[in-house]
Amino acid sequence: MFETLKEQPADKILMLMQAYKEDPREQKVDLGVGVYKDPQGRTPIMRAIKAAEKQLWEVEETKAYTGLAGDPAYGDAMVNLVLGDAVPRSNVAAAATPGGTGAVRQGFDLARMASPGVRVFHSDPTWPNHLSILGHMGIEKVPYRYFDDETRGVDFDGMMEDIGKAGKGDVVLLHGCCHNPTGANLNPSQWKAVIDLLLETGATPMIDIAYQGFGDGLDADAEGVRMVASSVPECLIAASCSKNFGIYRERTGILMAVCNDPAKQKLNQQTLNYLNRQNFSFPPDHGARLVTMVLNDPELRGDWAAELEDVRLTMLGLREQLAAELQRLTGSDRFGFLAQHRGMFSRLGATPEQVEAMRESHGIYMVGDSRFNVAGLNKDTVPVLVEAIVKAGV
Ligand code: LMR
Repeated sequence: MFETLKEQPADKILMLMQAYKEDPREQKVDLGVGVYKDPQGRTPIMRAIKAAEKQLWEVEETKAYTGLAGDPAYGDAMVNLVLGDAVPRSNVAAAATPGGTGAVRQGFDLARMASPGVRVFHSDPTWPNHLSILGHMGIEKVPYRYFDDETRGVDFDGMMEDIGKAGKGDVVLLHGCCHNPTGANLNPSQWKAVIDLLLETGATPMIDIAYQGFGDGLDADAEGVRMVASSVPECLIAASCSKNFGIYRERTGILMAVCNDPAKQKLNQQTLNYLNRQNFSFPPDHGARLVTMVLNDPELRGDWAAELEDVRLTMLGLREQLAAELQRLTGSDRFGFLAQHRGMFSRLGATPEQVEAMRESHGIYMVGDSRFNVAGLNKDTVPVLVEAIVKAGV
């Protein structure tokens, strides 16, 4: 039967990772996949994670299964991190998943179970894997306008007009913060307007939050999610610990189903457990356990939050340096948006040909739509990128 298999489209981000590895040049800059790198180009294990790992090695006595939703303490700690006290814990069903991607996948699965003809409205552009997963699952995708190529900000009027077409039984997929791939985000009053529209249409929001703490801070980045969760009758939240805890390969994520009626929580929790069982049974535990230890120990938590804040400020500093050097070299403010964007990514606004030219001339690797990972830069490579941008005529 294998002869019937067809070649599947390659993932653009992963392809780029490979191309970078294979480039023999010494002078090359990886601005592709969303992985934080420190100024020395390493992706370090965060101090608090390392300390928790040491403790865990000492105290862990079994590797027996946890529960289908993972360890309940992980669910509690993550609900608290993402939602704060925006909604009562009793309104939230939560299940650990293999990474944020696992949470996204489980969320779509739940939406399809609840609403077999569900359409998922997604920002145009969005993380390419959202589209790939939806396509693989045979779920209808409806793009909504999001990025204004002129201002490099959010095309809010276009977005509102398009998501207004989603109705009851549809999902509107939103990025909680640090929009991937554009870096352009909603402000609180825009979140409020989106919520009012969702309340009017009855569409269900699903929020993917993979970069909490990378934009304006841990609480500020969760503000939109919290506003949504406390205002709409129900929503889905897919959260990732890959980036903010730096535990990419541990595959640590969580899916939350929030409703304003605690009587429904039990059924939602049972559904999340069921979906885990069907797709992979028990979720991975190691990363989730480390996250729980870090969040529940005031000292580890404080150290983690401080290191995360350093990471955030490093990225902001690079954004500012980049915008300032481009301003100086081009004499124009047209790259000022780079300092306004938040998170790991910005969409530069270069054509695929210009992206290719920057790769040829300066060994700069960014995704073909000109998304680049700010954290892949350092003080010394910013001028290289600036030179490449100018030379390519972006
Ligand atoms: C990215 O967008 O680069 C990250 O989310 C990593 C991935 O899996 O694509």
